[in-house]
Amino acid sequence: MLRPQIKLNAKKEIYVPGDKSISHRSVLFCALSQGKSEIHGFLEGEDPLHTLHCFESMGLSVSSLGKGSYAVVSPGKHNLKSPKGVLDFGNAGTGIRLSAGLLAGLPGIEATLTGDASLCKRPMARIMNPLKEMGAEIRSIDGNDRAPLHIQGKQLKDYSYESTIASAQIKSALVLAALASGISIEYKESEVSRDHTENMIRFLGGNIIHHSPVHFTVKPPYQFEGTKYVIPGDISSAAFYIVFGLCAGGSEPLLVKNIGLNPSRIGILTVLHNMGGKIEIVAKRVECGEEIGDLLVYPSQLKRTVITEDLIPSIIDEIPILTIAGLFSEGGFQISHAEELRAKESDRIQSMVSNLEKLGVKVNETKDGYEFGEIQTIQSTKIETYMDHRIAMSFAILSKLSGVALSFDDTSWVDTSFPGFFEILESM
Ligand code: S3P
Repeated sequence: MLRPQIKLNAKKEIYVPGDKSISHRSVLFCALSQGKSEIHGFLEGEDPLHTLHCFESMGLSVSSLGKGSYAVVSPGKHNLKSPKGVLDFGNAGTGIRLSAGLLAGLPGIEATLTGDASLCKRPMARIMNPLKEMGAEIRSIDGNDRAPLHIQGKQLKDYSYESTIASAQIKSALVLAALASGISIEYKESEVSRDHTENMIRFLGGNIIHHSPVHFTVKPPYQFEGTKYVIPGDISSAAFYIVFGLCAGGSEPLLVKNIGLNPSRIGILTVLHNMGGKIEIVAKRVECGEEIGDLLVYPSQLKRTVITEDLIPSIIDEIPILTIAGLFSEGGFQISHAEELRAKESDRIQSMVSNLEKLGVKVNETKDGYEFGEIQTIQSTKIETYMDHRIAMSFAILSKLSGVALSFDDTSWVDTSFPGFFEILESM
């Protein structure tokens, strides 16, 4: 396996920016709640800022209260107005899919939603088809089930849906449509996907009846009022430095502070533990219905493990950086059952495999994953990021750990989710 060229011999603590999933949702729930809310710990990355600006153009009044903090006043969901221009969600699948659901359920709203070249390649039929069954008027302007999407908001009807894809974006788009239209929705998924939307409904006093861990019903009334959201650090961003701390040599742990530890997001900790990584959770607490803690990450010798299918939804965003951990592991790395990776900001199976091959790694690609054996060396190359922040950050961590110089076609994508990523890397 690769040997780290960096050693952690002094205690170090870092903070990562706010959770991206919760930041998007905080804006949407502010819009659904009449009156004044406050958001603290908001991720000021391009993705959630796009969502914030889109809803500002529909009548949310937003003022800054300092770094990551905003006061947001909503006129109430029925008083949101159609935007004058096209709503641009940039690179953000969560932003466009969740907002599409919410707007589709608001009678009288008319909007066109779009994004950058990466977003306009991503599949939208997964939300459009069930939304249409609910009574929504949503269509792809180019007729290809991709953005740009045109929505004419409608009063939707009670709905029951069973999704074959374990996707929090599909689940949340449909639930937000139901909240907007004031109807009930019964939802069943194949595996538990992240449940921040459900947590926020409960936090706001809404009613969710769970029939099983993957099956629930949400029922009106939805009389949400403005409140205060406190958003923890994003475990998907922390993951880059968790892997860094484990794979670096030396003797001292890295302390990663104030991280969201929602049980549907911590598959990364399970997988790294199974790989032999030592991570301790300290200072556990709950804020706005979400579990939070600090992570003590100790330099550890990692080894290959089997990643089972049930873990995939909870590590879906962390597979690129887990792959980098695999380069430092005895026995290499394997991932399967992860075809959903092909529908992310880039086709992450192809993006990882092609870049690993450029490094000289012999990789076997399959339909739903890839595999490589124990690695001894890698060579310097130019990484193609494919407009994908997590591809850029994963290989930047690899370069720092291994001491092998890597150049990049474009690292600006990092700002979609993790402003300050390179400053932390520099400080290591
Ligand atoms: C997200 C859900 C996941 C994840 C994305 C954020 C969310 O997507 O990959 O980064 O906030 O709901 P899917 O639900 O499509 O798997």
